[in-house]
Amino acid sequence: MNCNVFTVLHLRANGQFSCGCDTGHEINLGAASAQSDWTVQGLFASRGYCLVRAMFRRGYAPWGGICTRCVAYQPDVPFAYDRPEKRLKQVQFEPSFACALRCPSCPRAELAPSRPGPVFLSLAIWRRVLQSLRDEHYEVGSFLTTGLGDPLTHPQLEDFIETIREYFPTSPITVNTNANYRLADVFPRGSYPDRLLVSVDGLNQRSYEQYRINGDVATALEFMRDARRVSGRRPAVEWKYILFRHNDSDEELIAAQRKAEELDVDSLQFVFTHTKEKSLRYSPANVGDLPIVWRGTYPDGTCHLRFRRTEPTALTPNDSDAQRGSSPPRRARIQVDSVQRWAGRLIVRGWAMGTDGSRPRRMLVQPDNDPPVEARIGLVREDVWQAYPALENRTSGFDAMVALPTSLSGAQVEITVTYESIHSDPIRFPVIYDLGPAVRRSRQAPAALHLPQG
Ligand SMILES: C[S@@+](CC[C@H](N)C(=O)[O-])C[C@H]1O[C@@H](n2cnc3c(N)ncnc32)[C@H](O)[C@@H]1O
Ligand code: SF4
Repeated sequence: MNCNVFTVLHLRANGQFSCGCDTGHEINLGAASAQSDWTVQGLFASRGYCLVRAMFRRGYAPWGGICTRCVAYQPDVPFAYDRPEKRLKQVQFEPSFACALRCPSCPRAELAPSRPGPVFLSLAIWRRVLQSLRDEHYEVGSFLTTGLGDPLTHPQLEDFIETIREYFPTSPITVNTNANYRLADVFPRGSYPDRLLVSVDGLNQRSYEQYRINGDVATALEFMRDARRVSGRRPAVEWKYILFRHNDSDEELIAAQRKAEELDVDSLQFVFTHTKEKSLRYSPANVGDLPIVWRGTYPDGTCHLRFRRTEPTALTPNDSDAQRGSSPPRRARIQVDSVQRWAGRLIVRGWAMGTDGSRPRRMLVQPDNDPPVEARIGLVREDVWQAYPALENRTSGFDAMVALPTSLSGAQVEITVTYESIHSDPIRFPVIYDLGPAVRRSRQAPAALHLPQG
């Protein structure tokens, strides 16, 4: 049996290390300290971690029912961490145990009277932990705020982020928040994490506040808008929308996607939960029925449901070589980088511009003979700009989401990309893709139409 307790550290606001999982988050494995003789090596040699190691080695779950109910517990996997690892997948930390909201299924308020120690994680302790990790040559895959409470209630959140960058400059940092704050108040120096995961379950105040009690949806939306507009090192903004029975109408889900597009966030997750308020309309069983209308939306699930985000399947261009011969008028370059099949939809990504670098007026994407869909254009493509610097076009990218044709005649689909400009007739670029068998690749050979300049 195995679990990830030796590769994912979980530091709570009171300075205790605990199991990071849901059932074991109140188990103390050891304590951190700001003293210069405190070390991570010493932590892994402390009583709590020794007990876990000894029990797993003998084939027993260290905390009985707490372990067997835990999603991180792997009863059939051999114990992998007999010797301490120098590679930590993640360091999770809880900057603050305080929160102004009262979400009904969050155990924070109930645990507050009995949780010992400070509510805010000490910056001195945090610095000592990071220094020890670095001095002992640990690699840290990423940093994530987690646990209970909201990290943005900590008055020194920027110091926490800056300290991580000082010791582990290349490890990405994610902060998960309810975003009921003004961005500028929390990050006055502009020290943002790499990623903001923003919990906003609903678009309308009436539905939002049924779970996010005391919360204000307008403030949370404004927080995301502001985060997208910052200059310099801009954080990725992911909107996390938990599907409850009070916020799962198709109207609200579609409106939330329109809002996500308008706010220009990087993605919108519709999350299935296991808690009692969960949606009765949508679950992992009918994920394909979710009304997904925006290319940045994807479904996800809490770990209890063991539902993993459905990975898009990359399609293989079938005979793009043959099509290279059938040249349309010589006034544009069009490239389809990828076509991915996902939850009954096709996501098409690529770039296009006139051979003089000019922008299209609009672009259309059409699967087989279905009605064409207008693509989003003007997306930043630094790689294309670097390849053709003289054309001075940094925003040649496009993407579109289209439904799989209803009347698929076989294992292929024809995607036609149409480039429209004010200078010429529309230029059509059709590519045939194989729909199966499933090809799982992150990158695929681009289907390209390169026309000589001029
Ligand atoms: C305890 S919260 C702490 C972070 C922050 N206060 C927030 O709410 O985003 C940790 C995570 O639990 C999620 N969460 C809260 N209630 C949930 C529920 N009923 N089902 C699934 N996840 C939930 C939050 O969205 C958040 O991502
Ligand atoms: S906002 Fe987060 S920490 Fe606060 S009550 Fe809700 S789930 Fe818990």
